[in-house]
Amino acid sequence: MAKILKKEVLADRIFRYRLDAPRIARKRRPGQFIILRPVQNSERIPLTIANADAGAGWIDIIFQVVGRTTVLLSMLGEGDNILDLVGPLGQPTHIEKFGRCLCIGGGVGIAPLYPIARGLSDAGNMVTTIIGARTERLLILQSDFKAISEDLHITTDDGSSGNKGFVSNVFQELHDRGEKFDVAFVIGPVMMMKVTSQLTLAAGIRTYVSLNPIMVDGTGMCGGCRVTVSGKTRFACVEGPEFDAAGIDWNEMAKRLTSYRGFETAALEKHECELDKAIKA
Ligand SMILES: Cc1cc2nc3c(=O)[nH]c(=O)nc-3n(C[C@H](O)[C@H](O)[C@H](O)COP(=O)(O)OP(=O)(O)OC[C@H]3O[C@@H](n4cnc5c(N)ncnc54)[C@H](O)[C@@H]3O)c2cc1C
Ligand code: FES
Repeated sequence: MAKILKKEVLADRIFRYRLDAPRIARKRRPGQFIILRPVQNSERIPLTIANADAGAGWIDIIFQVVGRTTVLLSMLGEGDNILDLVGPLGQPTHIEKFGRCLCIGGGVGIAPLYPIARGLSDAGNMVTTIIGARTERLLILQSDFKAISEDLHITTDDGSSGNKGFVSNVFQELHDRGEKFDVAFVIGPVMMMKVTSQLTLAAGIRTYVSLNPIMVDGTGMCGGCRVTVSGKTRFACVEGPEFDAAGIDWNEMAKRLTSYRGFETAALEKHECELDKAIKA
């Protein structure tokens, strides 16, 4: 069990919970995640540890309400307990003094990007950040990124905040004006990671992406999270979630993510009322 110490609404359907989890807070490193089950009879879902304080014993998670389990999670309030959670899981991000680092986040992928960007900044790197969302009300963590980035670029698809367009457009502009980067980290929806990493790789930048396949146990037992990287099957929960973008089979990954779409839609429809309440919270 883990008590919710603080609940915030960061944006439309996006929540930040501070959880009392001292042992995870002590051990976790950037790039790692937890698997939690909010209440009885809910599914286990993976969420990135977005921030933590080892001394105070808390971790933060940031999640978007997209289906049944995230609806149920969003119905909990301060002082409630999350039924169970396990972590930290996954391989931590490899952080060293790279030099100039580029961090690119799209949608709720901005949340998992933050601990990595902060880790890079703490290690003495110069961090340039590009974050983007469909529209202004879905943008999160702007001030957090501003505090750790040398340079912060914001994009929205509809132009309601920052540059109009995609994060990949901003990268292309930076590249065209001769900016050089030693490494890039790209996190967001599958298509955004595919398109953006193709550009950064073509520019000769070593690029890492954080994959978000379906995960069940998170310990390498079920095979649900398998992805193909450079022709080899890898289990994202124990060998990832970060991988070198150069070898990812994006089409296979996108296809596997839709495997349960019918069940997910039916489960969500049953919870329309809860979703309404969660959004109004
Ligand atoms: C390592 C990792 C870290 C993640 N970190 C975050 C995060 O910090 N914030 C955030 O909002 N989301 C994160 N996600 C995605 C999050 O796990 C899904 O949004 C969540 O599982 C949706 O569950 P649901 O029941 O509400 O929706 P559903 O209706 O069941 O599913 C909606 C979509 O969510 C994805 N999904 C569903 N179940 C799982 C599962 N067991 N494992 C992985 N994906 C699933 C699928 O793409 C699915 O199509 C992460 C995923 C992974 C693998
Ligand atoms: S989630 Fe089961 S093997 Fe990775």
